[in-house]
Amino acid sequence: MTHTAVDVIRAKRDGHRLSDAQVDWVVDAYTRGAVADEQMSALAMAIFLNGMDAAETARWTRAMVRSGTSLSLDVGRPTVDKHSTGGVGDKITLPLAPLVAACGAAVPQLSGRGLGHTGGTLDKLESIPGWRAQLSVDEVTAQLRDVGAVVCAATEGLAPADRKLYALRDVTGTVESIPLIASSIMSKKIAEGAEALVLDVKVGSGAFMKTEARARELARALVSIGVDHGLRISALLTDMSVPLGRAVGNAVEVAESVEVLRGGGPADVVELTVALAAEMLSQAGIAADPAAVLASGEAFETWARMIRAQGGDPDAALPVGAHKHVVEAAEDGVLTALDAYAVGVAAWRLGAGRARKEDPVQAGAGVLCQAKPGDKVAKGQPLLELYTDTLDALAGALAVLEGAYAIGDTAPPLRPLVIDTIRG
Ligand code: URA
Repeated sequence: MTHTAVDVIRAKRDGHRLSDAQVDWVVDAYTRGAVADEQMSALAMAIFLNGMDAAETARWTRAMVRSGTSLSLDVGRPTVDKHSTGGVGDKITLPLAPLVAACGAAVPQLSGRGLGHTGGTLDKLESIPGWRAQLSVDEVTAQLRDVGAVVCAATEGLAPADRKLYALRDVTGTVESIPLIASSIMSKKIAEGAEALVLDVKVGSGAFMKTEARARELARALVSIGVDHGLRISALLTDMSVPLGRAVGNAVEVAESVEVLRGGGPADVVELTVALAAEMLSQAGIAADPAAVLASGEAFETWARMIRAQGGDPDAALPVGAHKHVVEAAEDGVLTALDAYAVGVAAWRLGAGRARKEDPVQAGAGVLCQAKPGDKVAKGQPLLELYTDTLDALAGALAVLEGAYAIGDTAPPLRPLVIDTIRG
């Protein structure tokens, strides 16, 4: 049967489900340029308004995977990956990938750069002198065999339909559609070729999904696509209402990750790293105790090998922003709130993040949260340390932090970090 873009748009506009053939045709034709941007914009808006069911979404994902190449990772160990929907201070990939590799799995982490208030893993690692994000497929495979973990930029050929469609959604108000988000994330992860995947779906002010109900819906959609594609998959719902750990930025997050790998670091970063590692190992069918491996120093050794394999010097001093400004507690009490979104925007304004994808980032910019909700504070004590190379960025960062934290008499109720686990 011959399809036309207008027929497909009308079908979705009128609330019908798209047939497999319609989905395959429209995704392929759009990738080839035979369906115009304005037609795909109309279809994306119709999907935004009328949705897609689970089978349609799985088919849409399959078509996006097939728009490009898929890696086939024959590396002599079970392969397992992690994907986070993004948060503030979310440096978990850095300690997690070497930890899971030290436990016996191969972890291919094809990552992105940050945009907006959430940081990007590649931007963080690029603050390590000499470290290189761009690897060939052969280099990825060799490093997975030798070291067990690789964090690098996604290769051009993976899910090109998604790259084109995501850029279009960004400028047409159609990003926030669960079937489109889920198919976008999963097309890249499936093309990457790991046998198992654990998702960290974040909930709260600093996350993409602000409410638990929306985050749950996204987690179920992601898991359902993974199951349809034969992946072993699960999703952890985790809190992102306060920044994760103390460091938010690039080099500061690398430094905090190294503390964790050396057996220290903030309790929440350690807790989430170990929880995600345990889930990844279970999905990969490996019986190992990640907390014990972390404590043994083996994960740190794997980290150093992983950084060296990509040209980085794990012992080099990390860059620090040229200017430092300290926000002090105005009174004695307990820190009762610290808003993740505001801290993320402050770090971004200081130069740690970018507004457009071609903008550079500052390796040394960021925020150190010297107190977290529940901590006792004394008048004059440092609450937040701000670092930047551009002094005029400071006023904007301080403005967004106004009202972002509060000091009271009683500690706020403890929120669980891992809210739930959804298994396929
Ligand atoms: N991240 C993605 O990769 N795709 C989306 O659509 C949203 C977030």
